[in-house]
Amino acid sequence: SKKPVRVAVTGAAGQIGYALLFRIASGEMLGKDQPVILQLLEIPDEKAQKALKGVMMELEDCAFPLLAGMEAHGDPMTGFKDTDYALLVGARPRGPGMERADLLAANAQIFTAQGKALNAVASRDVKVLVVGNPANTNAYIAMKSAPDLKRENFTAMLRLDHNRAASQIAAKTGKPVASIRKLAVWGNHSPTMYADYRFATIDGASVKDMINDQVWNKDVFLPTVGKRGAAIIEARGLSSAASAANAAIDHMRDWALGTNGEWVTMGVPSNGEYGIPKDVMFGFPVTTEGGQYKIVEGLPIDEFSQACIDKTLAELTGEQDGVKHLL
Ligand code: NAI
Repeated sequence: SKKPVRVAVTGAAGQIGYALLFRIASGEMLGKDQPVILQLLEIPDEKAQKALKGVMMELEDCAFPLLAGMEAHGDPMTGFKDTDYALLVGARPRGPGMERADLLAANAQIFTAQGKALNAVASRDVKVLVVGNPANTNAYIAMKSAPDLKRENFTAMLRLDHNRAASQIAAKTGKPVASIRKLAVWGNHSPTMYADYRFATIDGASVKDMINDQVWNKDVFLPTVGKRGAAIIEARGLSSAASAANAAIDHMRDWALGTNGEWVTMGVPSNGEYGIPKDVMFGFPVTTEGGQYKIVEGLPIDEFSQACIDKTLAELTGEQDGVKHLL
């Protein structure tokens, strides 16, 4: 049987953590033959650590055959030791009266410390997924704080946007969601993201031709996907958690196990593709194989798409400029 791998999860006692850990331990992320050791991180605060213990009691009570070990941590320097996969979920939420700059600064502190800890103690091949918002910029900060690790090992979660877009297209076309291929989401995990179905196909037919409605694209589809997080909060009184956890599972599984040529969306550091400046943590269509992702290159960008990409890029570079002095 396979040797266990180490999976670190921060914010482990939070809402997303509660929807995520049981699925990782059951083998949904890395395969039903891959034992895992969970390295669970929470803030050192007594209440959070106690809540984490409760989650660990429940994990124990599931008697997952693949759960080879479990640790609770309050410090990333111990929590990330030898970790192979790091899911950075915990982040500072925006409090009442908090300005955007304050939010960026509070998170810059968290993700600088976590990036440094990964740099110091994690596996040299650690695969990092940042879920905590602002996810792209937090991933950028962690990457910049870990100069000894490969920059391509830092990613941000755009998969929830991708999955939301796929479901909207399935509903619009009346086709099964699993039949959709070649969907892409560009840019920031924020309402400025650009979900792009120009290349998408269903059973070989063009989705764009099937829908054939640019007004729907612009006035219904993009706002629905972009504002979905706010709509969930409005309906549920809490932010998306199970769907976010599901997207994190999808992202890591596809990165680790491969997509067989299918496109998925990941937030990854640009190498200059599509004119996105190097290192900007940007949503791109990718394929993955052998634990490596590759940005899908050479796609034509029309005028409408370029305007959408420019807008989400401007927001992201604004965020990055806002934290530059903190790095
Ligand atoms: P939550 O507030 O229920 O849980 C967050 C947990 O993180 C808390 O238990 C908190 O104590 C912990 N935490 C905070 N700072 C930490 C640190 N430095 N180290 C370790 N743990 C820390 O929040 P929830 O609902 O689980 O969401 C987590 C994050 O995910 C939020 O930032 C949210 O905005 C983001 N999110 C991102 C999505 C995406 O698509 N990228 C989708 C949905 C949520």
